Amino acid sequence: MSQPEICPQVRTSHRLRYNRQPKEKALSNGSRRPVAAGNWKMNLLRRDAEALCQGLCAGLDTELATDIVLFPTATLLATVARQIQGSPIALGGQDLHPDASGAHTGDVSGPQLADAGCGWVLCGHSERRQDHGESDVLIGSKARAATDHGLLPLICVGESRDERRAEQTFAVLRRQLTAALAEKPASFEIAYEPIWAIGTGEVATPELAQRAHAFLRQTLTELVGEERAATTRVLYGGSANPSNVADLIVQRDIDGFLVGGASLDSGKFLDIIGACARHQS
Ligand code: PGA
Repeated sequence: MSQPEICPQVRTSHRLRYNRQPKEKALSNGSRRPVAAGNWKMNLLRRDAEALCQGLCAGLDTELATDIVLFPTATLLATVARQIQGSPIALGGQDLHPDASGAHTGDVSGPQLADAGCGWVLCGHSERRQDHGESDVLIGSKARAATDHGLLPLICVGESRDERRAEQTFAVLRRQLTAALAEKPASFEIAYEPIWAIGTGEVATPELAQRAHAFLRQTLTELVGEERAATTRVLYGGSANPSNVADLIVQRDIDGFLVGGASLDSGKFLDIIGACARHQS
C-alpha cells in the first residue's frame, strides 16, 4: 500500500528514518505517546512560515513515534494548514475566547480555530496570563470552550522565579491546575512551563522538572482520577533545545516539549522531535 504524501512540495532523502517504530513500541512510557509542540508566539511572516514548514516536512517520516503540533500566530494558520497538509504535523491556536462568537474585538473563537484546521489550542500560557491579565477562572472557561468545539487544550501552568524562591511552586501549580479543570473539559494535555525558564536559556534541571511533573500527575490523580492522570501527557517548556531535551525526556513523567525559540529553526525542532521519537524506541 502506498504511503500518504508527505508535504509533496518538498522531497529529501534526509528524513528521520529512526522515527519509524512499530506501533506497540510507541507506547513504552506507560501509554503516553510523546508530543513535540512548537509555540511560534508572535513571530514570522507568511514566507518565513512556509519555509519553516517545508524544512520540517522535509525532515519527517510518516510513521512517527511522536505527535507534532505547531502553534502559529492566527494570521499564519491558513498558510501553515496548507503547508502541512498530508504530513503528520497537527495545527493549534495560541489562544481562544470562551464564547463561540460575538462582540470581542481582537479575539478568536474555538469554532474559528477548528474551521482554520486546528485540532489543538494553548490555554493559559504565562505570556497570556502576564500580558493580558488572564485569570485562573478565565483559563478554566477557555479549556472547557476548547473541548466543546472539538479542540484539545494544552493547558500551561508554571511558577515565577519569586514563587519558586518563596517555596510556593507546588501551591501555584495546584491552584492553576485545579482552576483550569474546574469546568471539566472533556480532554486536555498539560504543559509545565516555569516562567523563569521561558526564553531565558535557563532550563530546569531534569530532577527539578521531574519533581514538578510528578506533582502535577499526582494532583491530576486527585482531580480526575488515576486512569486519566496516567494517560495525560505532561510536556516540559522553558528553553528546551536540542542539547537539553535528551536528559529531560528520559524522566518518568516528562512526555514531550512545548518549544518556543528553538521551534523557529527547523533543524533544531527536528532534533527535538528526534529525541522524543528515539526515547520511544
Ligand atoms: P522558550 O519558550 O522555549 O523560548 O523558552 C517556551 C514557551 O514559552 O512555550
